[in-house]
Amino acid sequence: MEHVSVLKKEAIDYLNIKNDGIYYDATYGGGGHTKEILKRDIITLYATDKDLNVKPIEDNKLIFVKSDFVEFLNNDKYKDIFFDGILADFGVSNMQILGEDRGFSFLHDYYLDMRMDQTQELDAHYVVNNYSSEELFIIIKKYGEEKFASRIANSIVRNRPIDTTFQLVDAVKQVKKSNKKNINPATQTFQAIRIEVNQELKKIEDFLDLAVNRLKKGGRLVVISFHSLEDRIVKWRFIEYKKDCICPKDLPVCSCDKVSLGNIITRKPLTPSEDELKLNPKSRSAKLRVFERI
Ligand SMILES: C[S@@+](CC[C@H](N)C(=O)[O-])C[C@H]1O[C@@H](n2cnc3c(N)ncnc32)[C@H](O)[C@@H]1O
Repeated sequence: MEHVSVLKKEAIDYLNIKNDGIYYDATYGGGGHTKEILKRDIITLYATDKDLNVKPIEDNKLIFVKSDFVEFLNNDKYKDIFFDGILADFGVSNMQILGEDRGFSFLHDYYLDMRMDQTQELDAHYVVNNYSSEELFIIIKKYGEEKFASRIANSIVRNRPIDTTFQLVDAVKQVKKSNKKNINPATQTFQAIRIEVNQELKKIEDFLDLAVNRLKKGGRLVVISFHSLEDRIVKWRFIEYKKDCICPKDLPVCSCDKVSLGNIITRKPLTPSEDELKLNPKSRSAKLRVFERI
């Protein structure tokens, strides 16, 4: 159940790794990207992951911090470090999604957990059993892009208490049939609840805003996203970072003081090659975008 790193070669190439550089891999996961970076002649690679199950490799160039990536970048201890490159590969790892005791997957019947960070209080069980039907509707609609969000939210409330993943699937199946492609009808609901539990989209926004300001001149932020909700955030944040003056066009002198932070290196996002898709069909929705500081 090892994690298969996506866009590994592309991510490392775009980091433009320099000898003697200092790098940061925000999402260690199975360490696939980290191990590639460590093969280079760098000084230090910082890495973070908030999952207690993550076991980093031993390497004297690696400083692994068990931490949320937003907290790491806000941590006074590391606040003066500027990086030659920062990599983030968002989403869940195979170990998490397929782990029988994590409650992320509808393939195993388990307590509704879905926390990436096992020390966090909020879990899926709380969301499913305590949020109002309106709150559930908004989450399932927004984070699951689910057409039947309203019906599903009502069904969840009607079926409470819901303790396990299979009970949640049942509640969804009562109001939504399997489609022709044989995708589990609860797929989008599970994605939505997972995003809510881990506050994934808010974390990505905060992370990008911090990370772009922690790059050295010429340093690169390389970001891999796994679904359109994540990629949209990355795309628009990068456009925002690139912009200089945002004053109305008819203003004779600039009064906004906005300066461009750098350039978008990938005009269109990179996606996995045919070869990668053959080896790892699950990588099909991955997108890589790169921003370079000036
Ligand atoms: C897709 S995996 C990364 C895989 C890794 N690049 C590799 O090649 O093995 C995403 C990882 O990011 C971690 N993660 C997600 N959000 C995080 C956050 N806010 N702070 C720290 N780690 C996070 C997850 O726990 C998970 O292990």
